Amino acid sequence: MTLLPQSFRALVIGSSGTIGSAFMELLQNNPSCSMAIGIHRHSEYPIDYQDPSSIESSAKALALQAPFHLIINTIGLLHSPKWMPEKKLDDLNAEQLGELMKINAIGPALTIRYFSKLLDPKNSVMVNLSAKVGSIEDNRLGGWYSYRASKAALNMFIKTAAIELRRTKPNTALIALHPGTVNSALSQPFRGQQIGRPALEAASDMFNVITRLSKEDSGSFLSYSGEKLPW
Ligand SMILES: NC(=O)c1ccc[n+]([C@@H]2O[C@H](COP(=O)([O-])OP(=O)(O)OC[C@H]3O[C@@H](n4cnc5c(N)ncnc54)[C@H](OP(=O)(O)O)[C@@H]3O)[C@@H](O)[C@H]2O)c1
Repeated sequence: MTLLPQSFRALVIGSSGTIGSAFMELLQNNPSCSMAIGIHRHSEYPIDYQDPSSIESSAKALALQAPFHLIINTIGLLHSPKWMPEKKLDDLNAEQLGELMKINAIGPALTIRYFSKLLDPKNSVMVNLSAKVGSIEDNRLGGWYSYRASKAALNMFIKTAAIELRRTKPNTALIALHPGTVNSALSQPFRGQQIGRPALEAASDMFNVITRLSKEDSGSFLSYSGEKLPW
């Protein structure tokens, strides 16, 4: 049974990003979505993973607008002006590893901690954008050490939190969702423009998956097509 009620309230975290802003556009044009709020580093209730205390303060400020039936976290990092994904062991460095863990795993884990309190206990969905390259079982090509490891860590946080939420919020589904390759700032250095699909199309595919979720799907790793991915 779908977890989104006829009229639902949504929150997009990382709404300044390519996929985050596409989700905002999609939700703002969906007549069933009665409220869509977007937050990012420079929004009214700022959330910045460089400053973990902003996660709690943003969630506390947004408690006035709760409950939400849908929370989608799209924050993520693959490269920076200082470094690109590692191709080989000799590229590994503590700064890059620490940075990607902070943005892709620790920030999202604390976001689950503080923002899951804003979910409607009657029925709700919390989605974290992960990546298929974070799958340990599916790793055939190697490389991209810090991004792969940070998304694998994120997946473990999601799975573990989903087990706890099954007890404390049994009508909530918490999932990891892979958007596919999308034309965005993140994928741009890797031929994202050529091989990625438009963000609105990806958001629409993912929203179709979200609308079909039941509470039994909590703690799963899904692709934009609805396919179950190996951890
Ligand atoms: N694009 C793809 O092909 C692809 C494939 C697989 C998975 N994904 C995942 O999908 C998600 C969205 O990616 P995208 O393609 O939309 O990338 P994007 O356009 O680069 O958006 C990234 C978002 O993350 C935010 N962000 C980065 N560092 C942050 C920090 N320290 N604190 C708070 N926010 C921060 C950005 O905020 P600012 O606007 O302030 O920089 C932006 O909102 C990511 O989790 C990514 O790993 C993408």
